[in-house]
Amino acid sequence: MNTSISRREFLKRSSAAGGTAVLAASTAGPLLAQISGDASIPAVLGGAKAHGKSWPTWPAWDPANDAEVTKVLHGTTWSRSKLVKQFEEKWAEKMGAKYCLAVVNGTNALSASFMVMDLNPGDEVICAPYTFSASLLGVLYKGAMPVFVDIDPLTYQMDPSKLEAKITPRTKAILPVHICGYASDMERIMEIARKHKLQVVEDVCQAHMTAIKGKNLGTFGTTGCFSFQTSKVMPIGEGGAIITDDAELHDRLYSYHNYGYKTNILPGSYDNIAAYILGNKIRMAEYQAAIGLCQLRKLEEQTQIRNENAAYLTPKLAAIPGITPVKPYPNVTRLSYYMYPFIYNESEFNGLSRASFVKALSAEGVPASPGYPKYPIYTQEFIHEMFKTEVYKKFYTSKELDWEAYKAKNECPGLMETFDTSVWLSTTGMLLGSKSDMDDVARAVEKVHKNSAKLKTA
Ligand SMILES: Cc1ncc(COP(=O)(O)O)c(C=O)c1O
Repeated sequence: MNTSISRREFLKRSSAAGGTAVLAASTAGPLLAQISGDASIPAVLGGAKAHGKSWPTWPAWDPANDAEVTKVLHGTTWSRSKLVKQFEEKWAEKMGAKYCLAVVNGTNALSASFMVMDLNPGDEVICAPYTFSASLLGVLYKGAMPVFVDIDPLTYQMDPSKLEAKITPRTKAILPVHICGYASDMERIMEIARKHKLQVVEDVCQAHMTAIKGKNLGTFGTTGCFSFQTSKVMPIGEGGAIITDDAELHDRLYSYHNYGYKTNILPGSYDNIAAYILGNKIRMAEYQAAIGLCQLRKLEEQTQIRNENAAYLTPKLAAIPGITPVKPYPNVTRLSYYMYPFIYNESEFNGLSRASFVKALSAEGVPASPGYPKYPIYTQEFIHEMFKTEVYKKFYTSKELDWEAYKAKNECPGLMETFDTSVWLSTTGMLLGSKSDMDDVARAVEKVHKNSAKLKTA
């Protein structure tokens, strides 16, 4: 069959069909599918999309709140002041923590936690590997050694059953990363931490409002670190927060975030500005807090909508052969749904590669990605760089700093499996849609499944 078609012929046929076809295809099949708007043909082959509408935009701003932000800008107090304090009080209350410190971003929330903690060169920190550099920069700033414990490929979280085997007399802390908005098993992790007297820094940058038996993530560990970066469910653009119940630690964190000055020295004040700890300057600004206070008002309702939609969507997706939604840890009572991740089994899709699946699903109007690229964190050069410094050479043996041996020792097969099989639906906006939008999502996946043989050979 001759499938090529001239542009002139295409335009003629398009206009005959009301001119709705898109000049994206180069074969007659796709062209005809577009003209007829055939929903049974995969959109990537020119058929009509399973979801043809746009999704709720993210991040979203309610213009009714403009005045609250412009009030700050029209005033002269732009650096940390009353609004930042108010935001901290509200975030602590929302999370159920005694103290909150607002900072510039999630990366610095995490780093600050490690910087003020009892952690020194020669110590070890057990880290979750399904993340990127931001989670553990502070571990390296302190001259400590990241030790990785594999994830459970069904939950994507640090596998607590493998945790204790990694503990040595040098272990000082654990870093669980609650990835994709799901929860690590904090009950077991904390049990182990208490038994071995370890500090716990929770990376909650993707999991605001996720709760275990009604207790929010971030309140289990020594500190809980949040990001308010644009894509997150609590978007400020940039911003972060550290929550803790430890008054002394909060005090040190405050000093650290403000040049190392004593707590409650405010910007612009020249009282007692002698630094007493080695600090940094990572203060949240007033206009960031103003945005945050507005966004915070919507968070509860949006989280509820996402949870309701996910509860509706999950059985539909789980019923499709080859799709296994990531399993929330059993005692989870609420999820943030920053992402909606599932495990893709290409053998149930006639061998259609994960990359082709993601492309086909996105073409259906359901934006999907393969998640983090296959570049395990324990093989990344930023760790290797630190091994070459005099500090590391002084505190670790040459055997411990052997890069090939380090990579082999930290290998995480569960993580590698996840890299190959994960699909993330970016759901901050998507899961705010209607039930019929959720039907579209399930229909899109079903459609790709039904047409997988055709898509594989396309
Ligand atoms: C798991 C995780 N950790 C840390 C961060 C760092 O947060 P930020 O981008 O606010 O610095 C992010 C967000 O980007 C994240 O997703």
